[in-house]
Amino acid sequence: MKQETLWSGRFTESASNIAQRISESISYDRYLFEQDIAASKAHARMLGEQKIITPSQAENILRGLDLVAEEIRNGKMEFHIELEDIHTHIERRLTELIGEDGKRLHTGRSRNDQVATDTHLYLLEKARAQRELLLQLLHRLLALAEQHLTTLWAGYTHTQIAQPVLLSHWILSYFWQFRRDLDLLDFVITETDRSPLGAAAMGGANYPIDRDQAAAFLGFSRIYENSMDAVANRDYQMNYHFFAVRLALHASRLCEDLILYSSAEFGYVKMGDAVTTGSSIMPQKKNPDIAELLRGKSGRIIGNFNALMINLKGLPSTYNRDLQEDKVYLFDSIVQVEQIICGLTEILNHISFSPRNVKENLERGFAQATDIADYLVATYGLAFREAHEYVARLVLYCERHGKTLSMLTKEEIDKLWEGKYSLAADILILESSPMRRQGKGSTNPNEVKKQLGKAHESLQDLL
Ligand code: ARG
Repeated sequence: MKQETLWSGRFTESASNIAQRISESISYDRYLFEQDIAASKAHARMLGEQKIITPSQAENILRGLDLVAEEIRNGKMEFHIELEDIHTHIERRLTELIGEDGKRLHTGRSRNDQVATDTHLYLLEKARAQRELLLQLLHRLLALAEQHLTTLWAGYTHTQIAQPVLLSHWILSYFWQFRRDLDLLDFVITETDRSPLGAAAMGGANYPIDRDQAAAFLGFSRIYENSMDAVANRDYQMNYHFFAVRLALHASRLCEDLILYSSAEFGYVKMGDAVTTGSSIMPQKKNPDIAELLRGKSGRIIGNFNALMINLKGLPSTYNRDLQEDKVYLFDSIVQVEQIICGLTEILNHISFSPRNVKENLERGFAQATDIADYLVATYGLAFREAHEYVARLVLYCERHGKTLSMLTKEEIDKLWEGKYSLAADILILESSPMRRQGKGSTNPNEVKKQLGKAHESLQDLL
C-alpha cells in the first residue's frame, strides 16, 4: 500500500524501507524544532500581513504552531522516519490539530529555504551563547595571570628548557589565542545573520511575499540578495567550523602543556580531583583524562570540517540532497566546542602551580645561559657569537661535573675563561632574568603588566 507523504501525490508506490532510512533526517534535525516553529510563525504572519492568506487563517496557523511546539517540548510528539524530517512532522501535526488552514502554511516556501532558515537561526543562537562562555574562559585566564604576575616559569622550545619567563606571560600567550577566536566567532555571527526565507525552492515565490518583513520577525538584520545563493550557501557553516577547529587546536595545545606539566617528571602543575580521574588498576594514579579528552576532540572537530568541505565539493548549484548531512557535522562540532570551552574553564578553576619545581628544572636546564652571553656582550663588548662560545664552555663543564651554572665558583669561571672575564653575581639568579628582557611584548614584569592592561582593555571594548 502507498504511504501518504507531503510529496507523494505523483507517486504510486511507497519508498522502500532502505530508501526511507537513507532519506530521513528526523533523527537529528528534530533539534531544530524550536527554530522551525519560529520560522513557520514568521512566514505565516507575513503571509497574513501581505494578504496572501486571510487574517483568520494566519491566526489559526500561529495558534496551531504553538500547540505543536508545546507537544514537542513535552515529549508528546512521536517521530517516524516515514515522515522524513522535522518540517514534515510539524506541518503534518499542525494540519491534524487545526484542519484545512494548516495546509496553507507551505504557500510560497519550500523545505529548501526552510531548512536553511532553521539552521541559520540555530547556529546564531548557539554562537551567541558560546561567545558568553568564551568570555568567561578569557576572564579566568586573566585572573590567573594577575594572580601570578611575577611568578617564575619556564619557557620551552623543542620541549627543552629555553629561558626563564613569567608564569603570567605563559598564561597570557593563551589568552591572546582565544581572544582572536572571539573575533572569529563575531565574524561567524555577522555572516550567519542573514535570512534565506522566501527563496523558496531556489528561484523565489510566486506570491507577493515580503522577505524583509519575515526576516525582521525572526530578528535577522538582513536577507540574502539572491534566492539561488540563499538555498545553496553553506559558507556560514564553514566559518563556524573554521572557528571550531582553531579554538580546538588552541585548547589542545594548552591541554598538552598541562598534561606534560602535571606529570611527575615536570611537576609544575596540579589539576584538582574535580577534573582528574583515577585508574581502576593502579591505586596511586591521578590521570589528566579531562585535558586528554579535550585535546582529542580537536581530531573530531577537524573531521567535521573536512566532512562538510568534501560534501560541498563538486555540488552543482542551489539545493542538493547531499546538503541534508551538513547538520550532522555542525551539531556535533557545536556540542564539542561547548565542552571544550567549559571544560577548559573548569580545569583552570581547579589548577595550582609549583614554581619551586620549575626553578629546579630551570637550573638543571642551564636557563641562564643566554643571559650570561648577553652580559658578556654588554660588559666587555664581545661579539654575540664569541660570547656564545664562552658560555658553551661553562655549560659543557657543568654537564661533565654534574653542576648547575649557579654552582660555579669564581675560580672555576676564571679557569674556563682564562681570567679574561668575570660575572656579576645577579646574572645567575634566575628571578632576575625576566627583568633583563626589554621591549614590548617581552616577559619583563613591567611589559607583562602593560600586556595585562591591554588584555583587559581588549575585553572592555566588546559589547
Ligand atoms: N531534510 C532536508 C534537509 O535537511 C530538508 C530539505 C529537503 N528538500 C528537498 N527538496 N527534499 O536538507
